[in-house]
Amino acid sequence: MNNRVFTVGSLIPGRLIVKPQVAVPTKSKKIKTEEITVEQNGSKIEIHPVKGKLLDAALNQGKQINYKCRKGTCGQCTVKVIKGTGLSAPNEQEQKKLKNELTNGHRLACQAEIL
Ligand code: FES
Repeated sequence: MNNRVFTVGSLIPGRLIVKPQVAVPTKSKKIKTEEITVEQNGSKIEIHPVKGKLLDAALNQGKQINYKCRKGTCGQCTVKVIKGTGLSAPNEQEQKKLKNELTNGHRLACQAEIL
């Protein structure tokens, strides 16, 4: 509703100032839509990228991933990343536990963060 009040003065030609209504484009946030595909014990698991731990994202989406300690020590949650980007760099626990397996795309789901 326009609450503008016109007076006699505003009707004089050249005095009426009408501000154009221009739609200002807003920055759109990029939404990650690419699924992350991992493999554990021969089963492929697709995980929708939600910020947080890879394991938590999978479990919250009803996906079955083996795990035990959640501290990066047991290695039960080891997965091989088949497809997908946007994971954090391996942390100290992953480097200690996985060593050379890291270069083959293996990660600890309880430690890998979806960014
Ligand atoms: S659950 Fe033990 S290392 Fe991830």
